Amino acid sequence: MCGIVGYVGNGPIVSILTDGLKRLEYRGYDSAGIAVASENGLRVEKAVGKVKSLEAKIHADWPDFDSVPHGAGIAHTRWATHGAPLEKNAHPHLDEKGRFAVVHNGIIENYSSLRANLIRKGHVFSSETDTEVIPHLIEECFEGDLVKAVTAALKQLEGTFGIAVVSPQFPDRLVVARRGSPIVVGVCDNEAVVASDVSAIISHTKQVIYLNDNDIALITKDSIDLRNIDNVPVTREISHIDWDAGAAEKSGYEHFMLKEIWEQPLSLANTLRGRLDENGATAVLNGLNLGPKDFASTSRILIAACGTSLHAGMLGDYFFEDLADLPTEFEQAAEFRYRNPIIQPGSLVVAISQSGETADTLAAVREAARKGASVAAICNVVGSTIARESGAGIYLHAGPEIGVASTKAFSCQVAALLMMALKFGRARRLSREEGLEIIDELKKLPDKISQVLASSSHIEAVAEKYACAENFFYIGRGYLYPAALEGALKLKEISYIHAEGYHAAELKHGPIALLEEKVPVLALACEIPGKDKMIGNIQECRARKSPVIAVSTIGDKEMAEHADDIISIPQASPYLTPILAVVAMQLFAYYVAKKRNCAIDQPRNLAKSVTVE
Ligand code: AGP
Ligand code: GLU
Repeated sequence: MCGIVGYVGNGPIVSILTDGLKRLEYRGYDSAGIAVASENGLRVEKAVGKVKSLEAKIHADWPDFDSVPHGAGIAHTRWATHGAPLEKNAHPHLDEKGRFAVVHNGIIENYSSLRANLIRKGHVFSSETDTEVIPHLIEECFEGDLVKAVTAALKQLEGTFGIAVVSPQFPDRLVVARRGSPIVVGVCDNEAVVASDVSAIISHTKQVIYLNDNDIALITKDSIDLRNIDNVPVTREISHIDWDAGAAEKSGYEHFMLKEIWEQPLSLANTLRGRLDENGATAVLNGLNLGPKDFASTSRILIAACGTSLHAGMLGDYFFEDLADLPTEFEQAAEFRYRNPIIQPGSLVVAISQSGETADTLAAVREAARKGASVAAICNVVGSTIARESGAGIYLHAGPEIGVASTKAFSCQVAALLMMALKFGRARRLSREEGLEIIDELKKLPDKISQVLASSSHIEAVAEKYACAENFFYIGRGYLYPAALEGALKLKEISYIHAEGYHAAELKHGPIALLEEKVPVLALACEIPGKDKMIGNIQECRARKSPVIAVSTIGDKEMAEHADDIISIPQASPYLTPILAVVAMQLFAYYVAKKRNCAIDQPRNLAKSVTVE
């Protein structure tokens, strides 16, 4: 997923655009570019690498860049899907006459046929990207009206797009449109800012409009004219962003990921705020738009998500079955959307997505809705596509998560799922006392996370001891099995070590063949059901000479005889122990990656939100 920024107004347009790109760089970052239309014509600069490479190029090639009179500009950080990360493939892309400049997020699935047809008509292409068909189509359709030409071009596209377009013929306006990839318009005075994510807008305004699919907006510094692809005027709600620009800053931490790991006590408190009802011994989740009868009559829950959100969803599966006797299954969203899921009457589909823009999860939501299921989304980004299209759900209120490796979102997702299971459980079979016990555990969770964070120096020492490993196993059982998968994903993502998460009982069915002295095992052996069996699994690993790091419960006296190193976490219920174990593993992965000098916030090949299939 790339980063798109657009601006029109009298401000220092080049600096505004590049500053905006820096706030989006976590979304995709193999190259970047800018195009500014003003009375001086159209100026384009591109560079491979991060935004700072583009800035250096601008300072070198365009020394008077900040003297540009008022104009309209667009900028882009790229996460390549078609065409290598080369300067020629960086956005913006232009038609051969330089009359239209386009930045794009998404994939044009029919670009090959469009490109061949355009070449036959004499258009000259200069890149390998799918995106480049768009400016040539606009040129082909242009008859004097910019919006009409863009609309006519977009009608020929199959696939997904979020785009911004400028033209030197119209230096006072820009056109944006979306289908499947987010575009947000900032509502400002005497200027206008657009972006693919609010973090690039918030320093200008907190009032934003999220475009819907097939919306097209003509934007000047004084107006926003919003229509659909059939040229019918549409009205979209103005949303208020509930956090400040500073929340999207590092605030003294070396990396966003470290900041977001340490933010978890506060993020959890925000997720829980106003949602724990001690009088009713239940949770208050009005956003689900479900009445008491619905909580009692729901017959089945299907969870669809990707990556870290899928690991949270696995825990949600356990919660709904253990606390509410609700048959539940979780599924990777890409599987869900393509395998013809059986949606029976009374089915509730729960989509989990931090960004609310993940393409496969969005498609799963649409497939569920097409089949008549009720859909609820657990998202962190207010107004995101999945949140809006689900129509019901729970916002995490965890604050922006900038680091590509998801951390605080996981903890808050699990807490939200536990509150949801509590709500269903109390409507079906949980006693008041059982409900109060869960509420009490949830209330203690932020402090218990703080206790894990307080042991970060010890975790760092253990991490540095194992940072040279090239292969790792993470094993767990029961509630700690999804935690093991999440811990392994964290290590993979940011340290590039091949780490496998496995069910501890599954190891002996093949993977144990890989164990040897240079393959450490991180074993989750906390004081919850399954611990005794974990001791046996740890011994199986050590018998093969693998060094074992045990994550155990503070006060466990016997673990020292079973493990080479120990990371201790506070005692908690089986439902919440996974969160504490994952926080410890987040720190472990962070310090391993730091020792290996990895690009922690922007790991190679990754993007923060995968808005392409
Ligand atoms: C997790 O650290 C990764 N960044 C990735 O697996 C992520 O969880 C996945 O892409 C889903 O993203 P979402 O929660 O925004 O849908
Ligand atoms: N598909 C386009 C490309 O490969 C856009 C990728 C992106 O979203 O950054 O250039």
